[in-house]
Amino acid sequence: MARLALALAATAATTSALVAPTAKKTVSATALNYDRAPAPEAPTQRARRRTRRSQDPANLAADANESELKRYREAELTHGRVAMLASVGFLVGESGATPLFGGNIDGIAINQFWKVPTGFWPVILLFIAVPETFRALRGWMEPTVPENYFVLRAGYTPGDIDFDPLGLCPEDPEEFKIMQTKELQHGRLAMLAAAGMIVQELQTGNTLF
Ligand SMILES: *[C@@H]1O[C@H](CO)[C@@H](O)[C@H](O)[C@H]1NC(C)=O
Repeated sequence: MARLALALAATAATTSALVAPTAKKTVSATALNYDRAPAPEAPTQRARRRTRRSQDPANLAADANESELKRYREAELTHGRVAMLASVGFLVGESGATPLFGGNIDGIAINQFWKVPTGFWPVILLFIAVPETFRALRGWMEPTVPENYFVLRAGYTPGDIDFDPLGLCPEDPEEFKIMQTKELQHGRLAMLAAAGMIVQELQTGNTLF
């Protein structure tokens, strides 16, 4: 049990390695490149059949139209990004190298939030609200009429919020697709890793290491 998170992460890493981004395996990423003109039906169907067979036990993708598929991808990427930050946060938060608040934030990471002085909570809220507002304005249709509810903008590529301070985003469309796939896989691994760490701490009540 004490090594549950590591075991989960290792399992996920193995799985992730099996679906490493090669030219052959980026079919679904291609199908999700919405900046292009609408793809003919055949490749999409092929991609969906692949999905159904390999990694979509609940058939979520097979029953979704293009708009819903795009929304699923946006949600998956956002969850993945939060999970990547969370995974790093667990490790940094428990490393003892946290100088904020006089070093008083310690113990297991799942309880550290409650140790932050309540006066600082509005600042945390602001750190969430500003990027989320920005993402909503950039990616989502204005919810002024029911047809626009939960619909992403036509020209918006899921996850592409134009935030790239390190200039990592490749100009080349092919490389961009590979980068998208890498991010997705890192995000999926991080969701499993974060879940593993949370469950471990709930079970043991101890820090990870
Ligand atoms: C996609 O499916 C949803 C749910 O069935 C529906 O509300 C929406 O209008 C559909 N979008 C398009 C573009 O067909």
